[in-house]
Amino acid sequence: MAENALYKVAIIGCGRRAAQHSTGLKQDPRCKVVGLADLNEEAAKGLNQEFGFEANVYGDYKEMLAKERPDLVISCLWTGLHLPVFRDCAEAGVKAYLSEKPMAPTWGESVEMGRIAESTGCLLAFCHQRRFAQGNRLVREWIKEGRIGDIQRLDLYSPPHLLDCGTHTFDQAMSFMDETPARWVLGAVDTSEIKTNFGIPAEIMAVGTIVFQNGVRAGFQIGGPDKDLGSGVRVLGTKGFIEVNWDGLCQKAVAYDDPSWKPDPVKSPPGEQMSGVIRHIVDSLQNGTECELSHVHALRAAEIIYSLYESVRRHARIELPLTGVTDHPFKTMLEQGEFGTK
Ligand SMILES: NC(=O)c1ccc[n+]([C@@H]2O[C@H](COP(=O)([O-])OP(=O)(O)OC[C@H]3O[C@@H](n4cnc5c(N)ncnc54)[C@H](O)[C@@H]3O)[C@@H](O)[C@H]2O)c1
Repeated sequence: MAENALYKVAIIGCGRRAAQHSTGLKQDPRCKVVGLADLNEEAAKGLNQEFGFEANVYGDYKEMLAKERPDLVISCLWTGLHLPVFRDCAEAGVKAYLSEKPMAPTWGESVEMGRIAESTGCLLAFCHQRRFAQGNRLVREWIKEGRIGDIQRLDLYSPPHLLDCGTHTFDQAMSFMDETPARWVLGAVDTSEIKTNFGIPAEIMAVGTIVFQNGVRAGFQIGGPDKDLGSGVRVLGTKGFIEVNWDGLCQKAVAYDDPSWKPDPVKSPPGEQMSGVIRHIVDSLQNGTECELSHVHALRAAEIIYSLYESVRRHARIELPLTGVTDHPFKTMLEQGEFGTK
């Protein structure tokens, strides 16, 4: 291990996202990457070389877990592998596990991941990296300072796929409201085209309403035409409003009682969000401090998503907590021919 490294780190799945995580890892001297696992060993070797990790390369992640005994595993696998690989890592005694989003391909598997984390004590986190864009941190500060008064409404926009992209948007929204969970949801999906992202089928567009436990009402549009804010969040308060992109770039910030307030937009430098993710999870591992990327917060976004799909299935508003559902309602409906497409 490097002289001042505290933690042995392993990466499972060495494709595109692994390179992003590697940029963050290279900036944290507390981390020493000891193992890289990918079914395609060439991908692992390429990552090793590109980032100069000098790690051992494996085709089988279970062999890597047994030989390297990593403290922290970063998993950059497609969604269907999230639960089984996390289970293996938790059983192997891994202390912290950072998974790519979204949580899992069904609500039941998402809940099971949380259950395993709580029963084994393995810190489970998901890569909702928008939280570490400086602009998004500033928006949180402005809201806390009361710049726009009490939040009343949110407008949420994202590219298509409720599960794959919506998870970031809902997570970003809750980070602006002190992590307040949803109370009820009602949604609709456009299935005139079916998209598949990382093995999970989805609608081409979704819209709906979420009411949060603090009474804040959010309208959302995921995909489709005529979005008046490309991919981001508009926060409307009693005393003003803020429009912020997914990456924290502030489009507009208005305080009705202070026309002189004109904050400069902050553009995230490349790599800022991923170095923030790594720093934060290693801080939590080192100091036992709360991890804002934890499964507890990720479950809130996943619950909104699966409840929205369930509202499509039941043609009804869904009160949270979501009960009586373990599958992915959209996938089940698609397989049953509900949308006229298979
Ligand atoms: N946080 C974000 O903004 C963001 C952006 C894009 C994708 N993602 C998520 O990241 C995940 C991975 O996406 P990607 O683009 O890196 O995929 P990718 O296809 O580039 O990489 C996945 C890698 O996993 C390997 N793999 C597959 N099965 C394996 C196994 N059993 N053991 C070891 N390795 C295995 C593949 O060979 C491949 O190299 C997806 O779940 C996606 O939703 C997140």
